[in-house]
Amino acid sequence: MSFPGSPEGAATTGLDSSPFEGRPEVLDALPPLTEQARAEAREIMARYPQPRSALLPMLHLVQSYQGFVSPQGLTFCAEELGLTTAEVAAVATFYTMYKRRPTGRHLVSVCTNTLCAVLGGQRIFDALKADLGVGHDETAADGSVTLEHAECLAACDYAPVVTVDYEFYDQQDVDGARELVAALRRGEKPLPSRGAPLTDFQGVSRQLAGFSQHADEAAARAAVDHPGEYGPTLAGLRLAADRGESAPPMPRSEPAPAPDRGEPRETVRPTGRTGETPGREAADARVAAADTPAEKAGAAESHPDTGTEYGRGRPQKQPRGGTDTPAGTEPGTSGQAPGDGKA
Ligand code: FES
Repeated sequence: MSFPGSPEGAATTGLDSSPFEGRPEVLDALPPLTEQARAEAREIMARYPQPRSALLPMLHLVQSYQGFVSPQGLTFCAEELGLTTAEVAAVATFYTMYKRRPTGRHLVSVCTNTLCAVLGGQRIFDALKADLGVGHDETAADGSVTLEHAECLAACDYAPVVTVDYEFYDQQDVDGARELVAALRRGEKPLPSRGAPLTDFQGVSRQLAGFSQHADEAAARAAVDHPGEYGPTLAGLRLAADRGESAPPMPRSEPAPAPDRGEPRETVRPTGRTGETPGREAADARVAAADTPAEKAGAAESHPDTGTEYGRGRPQKQPRGGTDTPAGTEPGTSGQAPGDGKA
């Protein structure tokens, strides 16, 4: 049986309530989040109008230095962004790409979602588990590989799919996947089926943080231009070309009209001069500015005074200290005066 919070439970339910971990000796040996890391974090923050928007790439940056989101990494992000560590942890625990315990040199993800599973993904996962002696989200004793089961990796036309550090190894079978992982453990980096050549988990984390993981511009360009095989994805296109078929032309599109929400054409700001609350004043203005009966009805409908037949019978301000709402219609009463105590 799998319990929420356990690795197997998380694999089953998608819920992982386990804490950010690391034995003290592991945490002590982690590479520090240096001044360079701080400078890079600030470079990421400068890319966004609101610094807190930088949190996701900053968590990848932490992983590029330390291999996972360590407790120090949570504090680092919180300090830089002016957030609490609870807020940072809330984000980091939501996404499975952020790891809570040290990750191996490579992250091997096996898709066990429906299509991949029926085509052999589950058998592949089970075989790798046995070879590595680990379960979901666990790392082999030699630190070479962390294994995880993954939900759909968005490559169903290549099922069953395995990724290493998010690079694709398509149409795997049990033997091919076992050989792939054995090669990783020997320190080799087999070429992915498509996309850039393999680096490692910390390298790709740097890339995801928005920095190049390659030594220079030429190496980065070579990775981008690396040839790949896109057969299954392009099969429909080839078939259409063989048959001389092409997609019908797109109809000339006119700019879509703005959705009609019963609001005036221009924003009407409350002036604060009418003695009403800003919300009421704005609602009055929306009704006044509506120029069709439908717009007027929509604006009246959303007016705070709806239900009192807007525009007539507007309730007058009540003097301080009292309300004439009859007991029983006031929220929280049941027709009883306070302290009545009658059954
Ligand atoms: S089901 Fe495996 S990639 Fe979609």
